[in-house]
Amino acid sequence: MPKSADVQHMFDRIAGRYDLMNRVMTLGIDKRWRAAAVRAAKVDPSTRALDVCCGTGDISFLLAEAGAEHVTGLDFSANMLEQARKRQKNQRDPEGRERVAFVQGDALALPFEDDSFDAITVSFGVRNVEDIPLAFREFARVGRPGARIVCLEITRPKSRVANRFYDVWFDRVVPLLGAVVSRDKAAYTYLPESTKAFPRPPKLAEIIRAAGIREVRWRMFGGGIVALHHGELPMAGAPAQAERPSPSAAVDPATA
Ligand SMILES: C[S@@+](CC[C@H](N)C(=O)[O-])C[C@H]1O[C@@H](n2cnc3c(N)ncnc32)[C@H](O)[C@@H]1O
Repeated sequence: MPKSADVQHMFDRIAGRYDLMNRVMTLGIDKRWRAAAVRAAKVDPSTRALDVCCGTGDISFLLAEAGAEHVTGLDFSANMLEQARKRQKNQRDPEGRERVAFVQGDALALPFEDDSFDAITVSFGVRNVEDIPLAFREFARVGRPGARIVCLEITRPKSRVANRFYDVWFDRVVPLLGAVVSRDKAAYTYLPESTKAFPRPPKLAEIIRAAGIREVRWRMFGGGIVALHHGELPMAGAPAQAERPSPSAAVDPATA
């Protein structure tokens, strides 16, 4: 797993061109994945949402647009948060702008009380943390009973053809794009390395369940290179039980 300090410095370095690089690297398709993640969070006007590893705020702003009462975006990179706050000033919807607050902090030691949020999202963030199980335990701690937990992340596809494309794209094209667009080849060489070390969807689902999150499902996007996991915390008084459905039962039927 990467060291937190290295990851923090890396995102501080690339913050200024992060959004542009994202759009170029994914050809803009990431917007669709993000919209699906926000739908999976099922926000309503009473939802207090937390967007962990919020970066420049893409998901935080979408959660507010979707009608959440309040959204807290948390990240440990000061420069990523600076970009998020710049974007916040330019948001079209002034109400949405006021309903989002950005906070500097660590996903592994969230600076919030237990039972604070109704929905917790993390998009393209959990791959970078030093201790993935601890991150999900933190989400479970700060989530209220019944809270939705949503995780969007890059993953390795299953099929051989998709894997070949993945290798060429992430090992060769992305570092070159990183050098040109972001002027930081090292950061965009780290990206493929971090995705290869990241648990595949069934394993990630186990990690999420082990944190006490129930009804864990996932669906794949982009030919299998992106996984969207979601689940929820048990309601107060629900019996504590380890939920371990077979992998096929855990796959979202809509995309199986
Ligand atoms: C690839 S970016 C994703 C940003 C945003 N969520 C998105 O979808 O574009 C990963 C972000 O996670 C943040 N991050 C990584 N580890 C973290 C940690 N332990 N605590 C807080 N933020 C972290 C980085 O600073 C970076 O902004």
